[in-house]
Amino acid sequence: MPRMRGPVQDEPQGPTLLNTHLFGAPTIGGNNVTVRPEVLPFDWGQAFGREAPRTLEIGFNRGKFLSELALRWPDHDHIGIEIRRRYCWRLANLLDRDPEHGGNVRLVWADAKRVTADLLPPGSLHAIFVNFPDPWWKRRHEKRRLVQPEYAQELRDLLAVGGAVWVKSDVAAIAEEIDASLAGTPGFEGPEPFGPDDLPFTYREAKCVKAGMPIHRFRYRRVAVAAGDGQSTTNT
Ligand SMILES: C[S@@+](CC[C@H](N)C(=O)[O-])C[C@H]1O[C@@H](n2cnc3c(N)ncnc32)[C@H](O)[C@@H]1O
Repeated sequence: MPRMRGPVQDEPQGPTLLNTHLFGAPTIGGNNVTVRPEVLPFDWGQAFGREAPRTLEIGFNRGKFLSELALRWPDHDHIGIEIRRRYCWRLANLLDRDPEHGGNVRLVWADAKRVTADLLPPGSLHAIFVNFPDPWWKRRHEKRRLVQPEYAQELRDLLAVGGAVWVKSDVAAIAEEIDASLAGTPGFEGPEPFGPDDLPFTYREAKCVKAGMPIHRFRYRRVAVAAGDGQSTTNT
């Protein structure tokens, strides 16, 4: 995995960060950006230089999980969306400069909730990873929580039938809230627990495990739904 320290805050020049293409410049991104209409529908095959099953991690932070997953699943292409610039720039620079890295990661510096529906075609993802999402404890911030019922429907629509949304959290209340949102969304089947070895550790997970904290890990699978309910059942 690439080294996560070092002077890597320069504007990324390589192919990993997509902000120039999607929003106009590597310095444009974050909370309020939306994808330029002229680049839609976005050509992911061209961005990766091949057609392969795709995954999405929302909120990759330091990128430990994403960069390790890219090496563990080399036959997949991996998309990361992160709302904070410094993490996006740092990981983009590290991956662009890493000779071991196979080129199967692309990053977007943006609010996932604002861009995923425009950027990703329905039924186009094999897996979505929601790893230790911010709990947003304060009541006035609750609506910032990632997986609430409306966004759960969006995530379902992005998944191919047979694909899954994989969730990890050390916060029981957040895990329960996400579980309830996914369970209440037609077209999802679960929860199905998974183990610590099934996926790479995230940065936060490694710290929690070292501290002996329990981790909630579960996934919901996208299933076909009866015709006439208006949901996509595309299988890729
Ligand atoms: C608690 S950290 C967990 C980081 C990492 N997944 C881990 O497990 O170590 C949550 C991350 O999600 C990012 N994030 C929060 N809301 C987001 C959103 N709407 N879109 C994209 N990233 C988001 C934060 O900036 C932060 O990096």
